Amino acid sequence: MIRRKMLVEALTAVAVASGVTGAWAQSDTVKIGVVLPMTGQQASTGRQIEGAIKLWVAQNGNKAGGKKVEVIVKDDGSVPDATRRLAQELVVNDKVVALAGFGITPSAMATAPIATQSKTPMVVMAAATSAITEASPYIVRTSFTLPQAAVALAEWANKNNIKKVVTLVADYGPGFDAEKYFADRVTLNQGQVLEKLRTPLRAPDFAPVLQKVRDAKPDALFVFLPSGQGAAFMKQFAERGLDKAGIRLIATGDVTDDDQLNTMGDVAVGVVNAHHYSAAHDSATNKKFVAAFEAANKFRPNFMAVGGYDGMRLIYKALDASKGAGGDALLAAMKGQIFESPRGKVLIDAQTRDIVQDMYIRKVEKKDGQLWNIEFDAIKEMKDPGKSK
Ligand code: PHB
Repeated sequence: MIRRKMLVEALTAVAVASGVTGAWAQSDTVKIGVVLPMTGQQASTGRQIEGAIKLWVAQNGNKAGGKKVEVIVKDDGSVPDATRRLAQELVVNDKVVALAGFGITPSAMATAPIATQSKTPMVVMAAATSAITEASPYIVRTSFTLPQAAVALAEWANKNNIKKVVTLVADYGPGFDAEKYFADRVTLNQGQVLEKLRTPLRAPDFAPVLQKVRDAKPDALFVFLPSGQGAAFMKQFAERGLDKAGIRLIATGDVTDDDQLNTMGDVAVGVVNAHHYSAAHDSATNKKFVAAFEAANKFRPNFMAVGGYDGMRLIYKALDASKGAGGDALLAAMKGQIFESPRGKVLIDAQTRDIVQDMYIRKVEKKDGQLWNIEFDAIKEMKDPGKSK
């Protein structure tokens, strides 16, 4: 049994490494293989990114680099083994020119070796742990990193009389980044971290940790939870009366996610948070994007949608530059791209393959009966602080 498994793995490795080389070169069609959580706990990420990909294709056509583009979307249910298997099938059977999507860090990490072995550019549109881009030289990111958001918010906290904090994060990669980079920066500037709390990624229960927060009596609670958990967290925060107990809530923008923000109610109003995208971002490019996205999908785009939309731009422009070729030529054409995203100006750093972008400080406000993240400050052209060590 074990020998058979080893044989299958060895054969697959050969297929991944050699079976696909140049398949895109002979064909008039290039395929993009997108792996996303369309079901399960992270399904809103899949729904947002798929909506954005469809919008990009509707607006820009199905041709790039002189070839017809075909997008194949697969549902991994945010199970990393499934992500890896689906990515492998897309490379070996469908001979995709690029992989894209990746809703959570473990899914991106599980797929990195496939990208490396097959020399297939892999565009991470959602997952945001700093180390992902170091897992394969073929990974390029269009989302953000948790250190970007956490450092930006820590600097704001230090300047705004927040001295004692408790941190609360999801217990996996992006949570570890958020906790470390927030705590390190806050303490560097004379703040104090009273306690570091974590909740499980799957089916978290916030009651026990919120009781600990109440007992610790910090000036502020700093929170990172992955997109999709914000509304449940806010509900419990209010139910336990923490909003009335003088404990200020501050967060990464994942918690005040545009996908759920309008369902959160008044508890969210006034929450200061840091992120790279708000549907309320005041630019002509964003207004056009939001209007078109809402018309096509009947819901508000969040930061995941923008990661997907910009990821499609990255692939299309790179295909134009490589004249439809994949592999190293396509990867090279992704590095160093600069463009105007709905979030503002962005750069794909040629050295790190990670995104350089403005990180905004925002406050949740009610306007015309709707909740929005209103930007009031920014750290300009921020690189991933996770890469500077
Ligand atoms: C991740 O798993 O990397 C992740 C998922 C959702 C987020 C942020 C990070 O909102």
